[in-house]
Amino acid sequence: MNAADQIFAMLRESSQSGAPLYLQLRRSIEEAVNRGLIGPGDALPSERDIASKADISRVTVRKAVQDLVKGGVLVQRHGSGTFVAPRMERVEQSLSRLTSFTEDMARRGMSVRSVWLDRGLYAPSPDEMMVLGLSSTELVARVARLRIANDTPLAIERAAISASVLPDPEAIGSSLYAALGTTGNRPVRAVQRISATNLGDADALLLEVSSGVAGLQIERISYLASGKVIEFTRSVYRGDAYDFVAELRLTGPGEEIRP
Ligand code: GLP
Repeated sequence: MNAADQIFAMLRESSQSGAPLYLQLRRSIEEAVNRGLIGPGDALPSERDIASKADISRVTVRKAVQDLVKGGVLVQRHGSGTFVAPRMERVEQSLSRLTSFTEDMARRGMSVRSVWLDRGLYAPSPDEMMVLGLSSTELVARVARLRIANDTPLAIERAAISASVLPDPEAIGSSLYAALGTTGNRPVRAVQRISATNLGDADALLLEVSSGVAGLQIERISYLASGKVIEFTRSVYRGDAYDFVAELRLTGPGEEIRP
């Protein structure tokens, strides 16, 4: 059976459910993907074919397909149609170690490269002044990169560092932490805040996912041993690529809970 037949077979199965048509269609496509009846890269029949074969309106088909594109199940390529999305190999990332992107990927044997989105010296924003402890007359070095592992774009990272620590952001090689390490400024502690986000058009385009899909917004503030803040980084990670894992322990009697 080809992809179209698999979907229509699933649709016949679900037509007894009495659920709205667009939901039935959405579930049928999802089910066909989950059961492996249609796989990554398979083309979906055209909107017109689905509509006429299943005897439902094109508006209904479009609604179901758009939902699945938003959910990352399908991808749309302009001019060539709709396809089952490639399956992502998820990266499991510990939340207890202060490592760099380069180190994280190297440990997994993945190749790393970055596309520079911005690097330069700027007047600091109010946020940057507050977090990095800068005055309005000082400058901030901004380093923004698209981080790519094994040819898959995983994250967009926008780091801000005091220009007194990083006077020449152009001189960073492939790793920011390695560059900070050469001047004895590699952070030793960090506080990281992770929150859910829906990717906007520009970020989604860079990360090669559909606009509006789920992503993770991560803010890292890292410190030197002296307690001085060294890095303020705001990142957006692909939600389908990362699992952040934290180990939790029951505190023993008499042990303090420290923040
Ligand atoms: C991680 C952190 C960033 C940090 C980066 C440094 O991805 N989330 O806050 O700036 O590592 O990575 P690299 O040394 O590879 O540039």
